[in-house]
Amino acid sequence: MNDSIDWNNLGFQYMKTDYNVRCYYRDGKWGEIEISSSDQISLHMASTCLHYGQEAFEGLKAFRGKDGKIRVFRMDENAKRLQKTSEGIMMAKLPIEKFCEAVKKVVKLNERFVPPYESGCSLYIRPLLIGCSPRVGVGPSTEYLFLIFVTPCGPYFKDGFKATPVCVIRQFDRAAPLGTGTYKVGGNYAASLVAGDLGHTMGYSAVLYLDAKQKKYIDECGPANFFGIKGNTYVTPKSSSILPSITNKSLQQLAKDMGMQVEQRPILEEELAEFSEAGECGTAAVVSPISKVDDYDLIDPNKEHPFVPGDFKCNKTYEYCKDGKPGPVCTAFYNKLRAIQYGDEPDTHGWVTVID
Ligand SMILES: Cc1ncc(COP(=O)(O)O)c(C=O)c1O
Repeated sequence: MNDSIDWNNLGFQYMKTDYNVRCYYRDGKWGEIEISSSDQISLHMASTCLHYGQEAFEGLKAFRGKDGKIRVFRMDENAKRLQKTSEGIMMAKLPIEKFCEAVKKVVKLNERFVPPYESGCSLYIRPLLIGCSPRVGVGPSTEYLFLIFVTPCGPYFKDGFKATPVCVIRQFDRAAPLGTGTYKVGGNYAASLVAGDLGHTMGYSAVLYLDAKQKKYIDECGPANFFGIKGNTYVTPKSSSILPSITNKSLQQLAKDMGMQVEQRPILEEELAEFSEAGECGTAAVVSPISKVDDYDLIDPNKEHPFVPGDFKCNKTYEYCKDGKPGPVCTAFYNKLRAIQYGDEPDTHGWVTVID
C-alpha cells in the first residue's frame, strides 16, 4: 500500500503511478505488451488521432475488498466495446484476450495504488487506442498504439449517497442519430464540453440530452446512461446515439434478479412525469439518483452561441425524491452493485475478475 497517499481526500484527477502498459499494431499485427514507467508518449505530428479523431478510450475500475483481494469489474465488456468502437472509426481491433491481459498486468504492477477497502475509493483504469501513423489525406491509420494507465480515484459520492438535479438544454446535441454516439470516441466528449460547462454553471450535475433529430426522446445523461422506474419496471432508452453502458447492462440484470420487468425502448420526454424514480448510471456515476429534471429553452429564440445562463428559461420541471432522499430502487441498485464490486456479496453472474 502506498503510505504517501491521503486516501480520504482523493478526487478524480490524474495521479502518476509506477507503470503503464503499451502495445503496438504494426505491419498488420499486434505486438507484445510492453511495460513503461514514463507517462509520456512520442507521436508523429501527422498522426491520424490528432487530425482525424482516430481515438477511442474505455473506463473501468478495480476495487480492493475487505479480504484484501483486488477485483476488476466486467473487463471483457469493455474489451468488446472497444472492438465495436474500433469498427466504428476504422481502427485495428485489439483481441479481447490481449485487452484483458493488459488490464490484469497494469493493475498488478500498480497494486500499491489500489485504495484500501475502507476508503470507498477505487483504481480507475483508462485504456486508450490511437491511430499513430502519419497521414495528410483523410483516411485511417496503418499503425496503432494501445495503452492503459491507471490512477486512484475517490468515491463519486463524497458527502454520502444523494440525488442531484440535471437539466435539458435544447440548444445542444451530443451525437447525431447515425453518428458516433454509440462509440467511445473522444470527439463525442469534445462535443459535450460546452453544454456540460453551462449546465454545471447553472447548478446541475449533468446535462440530459434529448435525441438530436426530433428533440422528443431521452438519450443519455452526460457521461452516463439514463433509467427510470415505473411501477415494478426498469425503463431505459433505446437509441442509436447513446453509449451502451456496462453499468446499465448490469442494472438490467440486477433489476431482473430483484423480480422487476425491464424495458429498453424509446422514452418520450413527457414520460419523465410518470417515473417514481430516475437515475444516471455509469462507471464513474455508479448509480446516481436524479432529484429533478429542468427543461430549458432560449428566452430569445434568435440568440446565438456563445450562450450564458441568463439566456435561458426553464419551461418544465420533473421532480423526484420530494423528501430529499434517494428512492428505494436507486438505493437498492447502488448498494447491490457496490457490494458485488467490492466482493461483499457473491458474484453470481461472473462479473468480477480477481487479480492474483
Ligand atoms: C457517454 C457515456 N454514456 C454512458 C457511460 C456509462 O458507461 P459504463 O457504464 O460502461 O461506464 C459512459 C461512461 O463510460 C459515457 O461516457
